[in-house]
Amino acid sequence: MIVVTGGAGFIGYHTVKRLIKEGLDVSVIDNLHSAIALEELKKYEIKLNVVDIRDLDKLKTLMKDTEAVLHLAALIDVEESLRNPYLYHQVNVCGTVNILEIARTYDIDKIILASSAAVYGEPSKIPISENSPLRPISPYGLSKVIAERYCKMYHELYGLNVLILRYFNVYGEYQSSEYAGVITKFIERILERKPPVIYGDGRQTRDFVYVNDVVSANLLALKSTIDFGIFNIGTGRAISINELASMLIEMMGLKLKPVYLPPRPGDIPHSVADISHAREVLKYHPRTSLRDGLRRVLEWYRTRRV
Ligand SMILES: NC(=O)c1ccc[n+]([C@@H]2O[C@H](COP(=O)([O-])OP(=O)(O)OC[C@H]3O[C@@H](n4cnc5c(N)ncnc54)[C@H](O)[C@@H]3O)[C@@H](O)[C@H]2O)c1
Repeated sequence: MIVVTGGAGFIGYHTVKRLIKEGLDVSVIDNLHSAIALEELKKYEIKLNVVDIRDLDKLKTLMKDTEAVLHLAALIDVEESLRNPYLYHQVNVCGTVNILEIARTYDIDKIILASSAAVYGEPSKIPISENSPLRPISPYGLSKVIAERYCKMYHELYGLNVLILRYFNVYGEYQSSEYAGVITKFIERILERKPPVIYGDGRQTRDFVYVNDVVSANLLALKSTIDFGIFNIGTGRAISINELASMLIEMMGLKLKPVYLPPRPGDIPHSVADISHAREVLKYHPRTSLRDGLRRVLEWYRTRRV
């Protein structure tokens, strides 16, 4: 059995769908805090356990026959983490330690941790490689650094096999605009024929990776035979927020001028992944161009609106 924590969330849902397609036995653990694809998930024959990853006793009863864990459950809102660092520590750090404890107790073959480019903070060098310094600038980023360190320690002390995937800016169908996702925010504004809102001058760049490519990375990590590794999961290509806004406005056939607001605290100027390590070791090759990915997301919005 493969356990996906956070399996009712954006990346988790897409991952579960692919695991089922591969014929694997899947069990989801999610407290439904931000479960965006619950109704979709219910269509599949999976075990859906509404449990909080902070509840070690409940996890113990559920995870006895687990072969591997894709640990995606987390709180992901950077701004909320600035207001409530304690909560982010409880869920993202203590929740991860619970999963590691269970893995140690039940001799689970493999843990895959969904980490984030937020561990790097403001990078000193672009593109960002995995050995760049970790200088998080939010409690969210720090919680991922500590979760990673615990994973490494459990590997070193107890021999757990752990792969850490540092996702960059993931986008795709079912992404919520509430907590994350500038792409979703832009699309929802443009659909209402309102101009997209850009914080700062829009020249900041990001590495947007389509969710199906992230799912492929998750599966490659699951099948990999290495016992420890840390991998950037992006595309290796950067686009500015201004270019992104223009691309979406053009694809949606409108003429709108973005509205500019002051930069948000904690926003970094540039972020793009060096993905050569994932290419070499995991054979990870992101296949979806930004334009194709955006086309699919727009199509999904259209079908949802009919
Ligand atoms: N979306 C991105 O661009 C991005 C980038 C980098 C890293 N990540 C990481 O990928 C993972 C998945 O992110 P996502 O975008 O799918 O987010 P999401 O919010 O859609 O999914 C997270 C899931 O975890 C669940 N959850 C939250 N707290 C929980 C708890 N205490 N117990 C059990 N379940 C809980 C939520 O209900 C939700 O279903 C997270 O670990 C996130 O930090 C995401």
